[in-house]
Amino acid sequence: MINVVVGGATGKLGRMVCQLILEDSRMDLTGAIVSSQGGNVGKELYPGVVACGPDAVRSCLADADVYVDLTTPDAASRLIPSIPDTNTNLVVGTTAVDEEAVRSLKEALKKTNNSALMSANFSLGVNLFWRLCEMMASSLPGYDIELIDIHHNQKKDSPSGTAMEAVRAMQAVTGIEAVRHGREGKAEKRGREIGVHSLRAGDVVGDHTVIFAGNMERLEVTHRAVSREAFARGCVEAINWIADKRDGELHSMREVLNL
Ligand SMILES: NC(=O)c1ccc[n+]([C@@H]2O[C@H](COP(=O)([O-])OP(=O)(O)OC[C@H]3O[C@@H](n4cnc5c(N)ncnc54)[C@H](OP(=O)(O)O)[C@@H]3O)[C@@H](O)[C@H]2O)c1
Repeated sequence: MINVVVGGATGKLGRMVCQLILEDSRMDLTGAIVSSQGGNVGKELYPGVVACGPDAVRSCLADADVYVDLTTPDAASRLIPSIPDTNTNLVVGTTAVDEEAVRSLKEALKKTNNSALMSANFSLGVNLFWRLCEMMASSLPGYDIELIDIHHNQKKDSPSGTAMEAVRAMQAVTGIEAVRHGREGKAEKRGREIGVHSLRAGDVVGDHTVIFAGNMERLEVTHRAVSREAFARGCVEAINWIADKRDGELHSMREVLNL
């Protein structure tokens, strides 16, 4: 049985992941980490599950096999580098985590030989979307590349982690360095760059469109998440996949999905 502690257990994604863990015969929800304001909510949501605030993370993880972080960029950046020292494997779904925190996490993994998996998006469709972005970018040299992400109006980071992962994938195969966030004023598109545009509206779960445009044609690919369950189900598979790894590495969802 895999003992799982979820950080951000009161959040939109965290609630759904906790529910799926409770229904999954392979795992137990042994703890929930909530922000100090959410402490009582955590206890009410998950009766019998230890709910602790950010200061009590170490004791909450004492018997855990996997800690899943679904919090905020600041909270995750502060916490995740210290998780391998607790001898717990880690799944990070929180987006916009500091690069410095990711570097420290990788060092801690090497030292302790514990394992982690980090993904800005756990859905199968988005992981395939990233692959398609790569393929189109390498097959359509010289085409203009524009990327649009649309999310609900409460989203904390912008552009989305999913959009930025698509940008990194396309940069890696094209060598394009310049990224232009939004277009305002008189600046024209000159030379090689990737345009990124974020819309924040209503309750949109997450839409991403990439546009490759030449002079005579345009190729567009769109992924739409219609329910957070697409992410939550992928997250549970990531927990199962990472639980007994001991290799000191930071893994990606691509490995879980064999893409
Ligand atoms: N990887 C993926 O597939 C995927 C998909 C969707 C979203 N995400 C990312 O997952 C993260 C959570 O998204 P969401 O929509 O669930 O956000 P949300 O509804 O705002 O939930 C955030 C959670 O973080 C907790 N929290 C806030 N500050 C904290 C702190 N200092 N220490 C511990 N916990 C703290 C909140 O607790 P309180 O309620 O107590 O404040 C809440 O449980 C975001 O980074 C989002 O971009 C990833």
